Amino acid sequence: MTKRIGILTAGGDCPGLNAAIRGVAKTAIVEYGMKVLGFYDGYKGLINNDYTELTESDVSGILTQGGTILGTSREKPFKDDAGEMKTDKILSNYRDLDLDCLVCIGGNGTIKTAHKLSKIGLNVIGIPKTIDNDVWGTDQTFGFDSAVNICTDAIDRLHTTGNSHHRIMIIEVMGHNAGWIALHAGIAGGGDVILVPEITCNIDIVTNYLHKRHTQGKPVSIVVVAEGVYSQENNNFTAHELAQRIEQATGIETRETVLGYIQRGGTPSAADRILATRYGRYAAHLIAKEKYNQLVVFKNNTVDHISLKESAGKLKTIDPEEMIVVSARALGVCFGDKPM
Ligand code: F6P
Repeated sequence: MTKRIGILTAGGDCPGLNAAIRGVAKTAIVEYGMKVLGFYDGYKGLINNDYTELTESDVSGILTQGGTILGTSREKPFKDDAGEMKTDKILSNYRDLDLDCLVCIGGNGTIKTAHKLSKIGLNVIGIPKTIDNDVWGTDQTFGFDSAVNICTDAIDRLHTTGNSHHRIMIIEVMGHNAGWIALHAGIAGGGDVILVPEITCNIDIVTNYLHKRHTQGKPVSIVVVAEGVYSQENNNFTAHELAQRIEQATGIETRETVLGYIQRGGTPSAADRILATRYGRYAAHLIAKEKYNQLVVFKNNTVDHISLKESAGKLKTIDPEEMIVVSARALGVCFGDKPM
């Protein structure tokens, strides 16, 4: 029997989504003769039966395209009080379309919903997507590498302008409640201070270190702040307020840049194109083997799978003792927790 599968992209968009869609669809169609339906705008399309058939030509030429040809949303069908009606619609649409499996490409929220859908009778496969890289069970989500490259380029640019004006430059990056983007881009960009939600920071330690750098004749200092830091106790400030506080404490001109949605836009990096494609192909192979309710992951330098149940509801955050943090400290990076 020809298998019929659905694909949806949900949650915050990122570069690589179209590469993943292409990886699933081309493999399913060409290698297994499956029929592929693409649902628009995440779980919203599944609730409203809003979809299109995806043919090989529909996914041709989208590998390098940013965003998602299917659109996305943050619809959480189990979340609000209309949840039951929404999930009933999902189940009936899934059955009426005679689907064998649904591929859900998304981050933590998407994976959590996919797991709940598997418990009410759908066959699902999750593919880990997010710039935040905070999906438990995989070494890397696609979207992360592209965001780190974008942030690193921005930090490089802040170095030159900060150097010209002998300023302290602050850059706020995304990452939700994890600091992976700040950590990796901060190291790649030569950040002097890297603040992440996983390491409680004291702004007085930061200002003392920045002042010390200045007295040592350093012409510019770069402070990389993960947005999740603001939810730490006593850190209830904005990037602008942080800049003002640092300037007042050090007497050094300080300017802030909030990089925002630039981190989610544009064409995927080569690494993300490859990872997303490998994820998509592996998902199609799992469906062909009827190995359902799994999350495709990247572990030990290869694509693998774990049960959705293992990952759903968990967050992958930075362990302050892991080597990458220890090495950064050894190279003089201040994480705001220990006087330097
Ligand atoms: O999860 C990706 C992400 O970009 C986070 O880093 C950020 O906090 C959030 O999405 C922003 O959400 P929205 O796109 O709904 O504003």
